[in-house]
Amino acid sequence: GKGNFPHFMLKEIYEQPTVIGDTLATVLNPASQTVTLPPLPIDFATVPRITISACGTASYAGYVAKYWLEGLARIPVEVDIASEFRYRGAPLPEGGLAIFVSQSGETADTLEALRFCKREGQHILSIVNVPESTIARESDAVILTKAGPEIGVASTKAFTTQLTVFASIAIAAARARGTIDHKREAELASALSEVPGRAAEVLKHDEHIAEIAQTIAKARDVFYMGRGSSFPIAMEGALKLKEISYIHAEGYAAGEMKHGPIALIEDEVPIIMIAPSDALFEKTASNVQEMISRGGKVIFLSDAKGIARMKKQAVPFACIELPAVDPVVAPILYSIPVQLLAYHTAVIKGTDVDQPRNLAKSVTVE
Ligand code: F6R
Repeated sequence: GKGNFPHFMLKEIYEQPTVIGDTLATVLNPASQTVTLPPLPIDFATVPRITISACGTASYAGYVAKYWLEGLARIPVEVDIASEFRYRGAPLPEGGLAIFVSQSGETADTLEALRFCKREGQHILSIVNVPESTIARESDAVILTKAGPEIGVASTKAFTTQLTVFASIAIAAARARGTIDHKREAELASALSEVPGRAAEVLKHDEHIAEIAQTIAKARDVFYMGRGSSFPIAMEGALKLKEISYIHAEGYAAGEMKHGPIALIEDEVPIIMIAPSDALFEKTASNVQEMISRGGKVIFLSDAKGIARMKKQAVPFACIELPAVDPVVAPILYSIPVQLLAYHTAVIKGTDVDQPRNLAKSVTVE
């Protein structure tokens, strides 16, 4: 049941500290501060390329993983939505690894993309939440997200546990590849092990986010922006808002705005900026300044240091302060405020949060 929560979606958002911890318990060794994955069909040290395929929210987990796997492990990664990838006749390298991400494990396009890769001789790894699902059964290896049943149609805890699994894979791959040393691995393992506690801190901003949602609920169009691994979180935030509040939203790479979409920024347009203190922070801050000078209402998500730096340049409409963390784990934490923002906006609009119109929990038709 929903317990004390008005909706499954809110209950599932609040379960994230626990289920991220449950997922980490299967892949992290706290004593040695290392990642230990189950036996996999490939050796990361020699794999020529990784192909990731999924739909919707699960595909955004794949896009974050591309930044992690390329950045940390220096393995070339291709990500594509399954409904395009499966028909494209993509050339795949011999001995390549194909990873499929799915909460339900039954999504028709993802399953067909998997079967295509199998025929093409790829090694198949899936990240699924339902262990007995078709995608799990047809894979060479499975890493389970320990999210528990997800009832709300909008995916929340499945997404952050998918990210958790991918972060662990990236660390293990980087170790195998020799691109990080033991000290860095221990740092990353420790940053990951702190995510459940940090996620619980993020949930404390719920009331403040509900206030900000009053502004979002009045908007016709909303932009979400970020750079690097925050870019897929921007796309995920926009998807969450669209599907449950029915407000038009777009997720953009912050640096791409000036190539067209900035024409849409005028007075009162809300812009959610995903801006953890990382190597790209200054670039993002200068995009924020551009948005503010065109009248955009920037809702700025960053840590205390980032917020202070931003305010020296231009003052956002609202700031949500997240804990300062290693930039590698930031996407997991920054998912939570965008989920809450979509949730509260939908509640204000009076939509059917758990069962939005036209959507099914599991898309088994093509
Ligand atoms: C969005 C959402 C969908 C699913 C997509 C894939 O909130 O839930 O975009 O992520 O339909 O579903 P699975 O993960 O079951 O393959």
